[in-house]
Amino acid sequence: MRIATAIANSNIAIIKYWGNRNDELVLPLNNSLSFTMDDRLQTKTTVLFDEEFTEDELWINDEKASEEERTRVSDFLEIIREKAKIKLKSKVFSENSFPKGAGLASSASAFAALAGASTKALGLNLSNKELSLFARFGSGSASRSLFGGAVEWNKGEKQDGSDCYSEQIIPKEKLSNLRNIIAIVERKEKKIGSRKGMKISVETSKLLPKRVEGVEKRLNIAKDAIINFNFQKLAPVIMEDSDSMHQVMQDSSPSLVYLNPTSHRIINSIKELNSQNKEYLGAYTFDAGPNAHIYTLDKNSKEIISVLKEIEGVQEIIECSMGDGIRFSESHLM
Ligand code: DP6
Repeated sequence: MRIATAIANSNIAIIKYWGNRNDELVLPLNNSLSFTMDDRLQTKTTVLFDEEFTEDELWINDEKASEEERTRVSDFLEIIREKAKIKLKSKVFSENSFPKGAGLASSASAFAALAGASTKALGLNLSNKELSLFARFGSGSASRSLFGGAVEWNKGEKQDGSDCYSEQIIPKEKLSNLRNIIAIVERKEKKIGSRKGMKISVETSKLLPKRVEGVEKRLNIAKDAIINFNFQKLAPVIMEDSDSMHQVMQDSSPSLVYLNPTSHRIINSIKELNSQNKEYLGAYTFDAGPNAHIYTLDKNSKEIISVLKEIEGVQEIIECSMGDGIRFSESHLM
């Protein structure tokens, strides 16, 4: 029996990944930059390979996963089996620490943990950088969850994708004043998943090439602001990049609308709070869904939470600090 267990946390990008230059190899159009969240948004995964298994099986939070989920995991494991030159089928057990039904289920933490557990179980001793090269096949953003703190995913230049890996910019210890206040506004899964949505944008959005041009400048400002820990420089760039990605989504055909009226109320409230205070107290960012992530400083998190609590449609608020990259455990799920 070959078995291993890995734990990975979710990450929330501040310079977003939206669009591939090569779909098959999952090579993005632009570099992206994220913070890895603490253990509140975590996936623990055990992978077990055995000669007796006839097909891959997947269990999530003690329940048998849907055929769609199982196929996605099985397709990913094919890539790992090919690398290890081993044909064994597997049983995969996965548990999320996310609050149940919060619409926060994350393919980033899931595929980072799966990449770690499956390769370790098959005896491939990969570095985090090498794991990030594999994780992206399951989910692009998973490439960034191998590392803790602030992480950059390099788009790379090579056609074979061998330079398309992630690396840490700053460890979480240097980000101890940073918080992500998450406002849950909808609990359902998104209608059009990111991978499918970004393909539609690449094929149809006229704004996307402009966005990609703008990313480079924002990326440099953001990296500089993170290294020097300057929230006043970081905050406007975070909001600009989120706005830019959602404009591209809307500009696509069919138009992709992920934000809802509550998301817009949150955007307006944060803008108002910032302008009243004549400095940035919070910076909003949204992925392919209506739930808000408000980056803020520790000293301002109470004020952000009290503003969010007053907004119609906000169902739950979760405060996250910055967290760790992948780690392995000897306590297996089964
Ligand atoms: C909007 O391909 O990683 O979150 O379809 O959930 O696997 P899944 O997503 P993925 O795309 C993530 C896109 C994003 C922005 C980001 O995280 O950079």
